[in-house]
Amino acid sequence: MVGIDIGSKSIKVIELEKSGNKWNLKTSGAVGFKGVSPDKITDEKELQSLGEILRKTVNQISLTSKDVNISLPESIVFTRLIKFPMLTDEEISSAVKWESEQYIPIPVSEAVIQYMVLGKDEIKSQTSVLLVAAPKNSVEKFVKVIRYAGLIAVSAETELTAMARSLAPDKGISFLLDLGSSATDMSIVKDGKIVFTRSIPVAGEAFTRAVAQGLNITLQQAEEYKKTYGLSSTQLEGKVRIALEPVFKMVTEEIKKAIHFYQTEEKGEIPNALIVTGGASSMPDVIPYLTETTGIETIMGNAFGKLSLDVETAKSLSGYSSIYATAVGLAMREE
Ligand SMILES: Nc1ncnc2c1ncn2[C@@H]1O[C@H](COP(=O)(O)OP(=O)(O)OP(=O)(O)O)[C@@H](O)[C@H]1O
Ligand SMILES: [Mg+2]
Repeated sequence: MVGIDIGSKSIKVIELEKSGNKWNLKTSGAVGFKGVSPDKITDEKELQSLGEILRKTVNQISLTSKDVNISLPESIVFTRLIKFPMLTDEEISSAVKWESEQYIPIPVSEAVIQYMVLGKDEIKSQTSVLLVAAPKNSVEKFVKVIRYAGLIAVSAETELTAMARSLAPDKGISFLLDLGSSATDMSIVKDGKIVFTRSIPVAGEAFTRAVAQGLNITLQQAEEYKKTYGLSSTQLEGKVRIALEPVFKMVTEEIKKAIHFYQTEEKGEIPNALIVTGGASSMPDVIPYLTETTGIETIMGNAFGKLSLDVETAKSLSGYSSIYATAVGLAMREE
């Protein structure tokens, strides 16, 4: 299966093949672009040219399947955890249909709605359902880019849903953190299922702006400084870190809030691990910084960790792990 993750600055494509219970890599590729995420595009021509960029990439990497799974940015999606009484699958389906309106902030007629049953608690007589809704016209723009590339989008899901598949362990509670370019997405995943999500518009671009302002340098220079010195407190006398800290704090505060919410509202436990991914997670010293500020053991997510790769391929891909988590998860989608 093929997974295509259209980010706000780059597109990642990956094709996997399942043999037995092993995932093998067929091909992969990523391409950067100047512009904005498809949902923010209003000019049809711009959607078309993004499609052309994608078409070139898929030709270059010799993608074999035309059917692809795509992701939707967390920022355009509304995710709600709803508690229904004990219901049959059929009853859940109609309850979602008739009651969605009260849970989502957009008219049902203008939304694409999906749901997933997280679990049925016999003791509390409760069914937990994760409801996901996105504006139809935004979803259509992503589908169009895919179509302009000569491909067919056969499914769409949120980035975090895909990422949970590629990064989260099947058992236990983990916290996923995707530090992208325009948004930082976070989720709490319990036994492979998402129980909480949040997206904030603070990520790589905001980090670069903070460094540019703090050190009074150009954005281009700041981008380099961010990548070279990051959150190191010793390099360059920690100047880059000092510039980054107020912005990065918005991320750590949100993580703490999320965990607090999960503990109090959902009576959940503290996650065992904070798994980080996304381009900006490659910033020097992100891992020790997050461990220290959140008090949770932080590890770098390995997007390819669940695939069977030969040594050579694993080596050549290792530097790209931080950007592929969503695409890999999409390609692992089985239903
Ligand atoms: N080594 C690095 N150190 C710090 N930041 C980095 C590094 N490499 C890439 N980045 C940052 O990662 C960001 C791009 O990440 P990614 O590819 O995950 O974004 P995206 O998926 O296109 O965006 P989004 O998910 O927000 O739509 C950029 O802001 C870039 O500056
Ligand atoms: Mg992304």
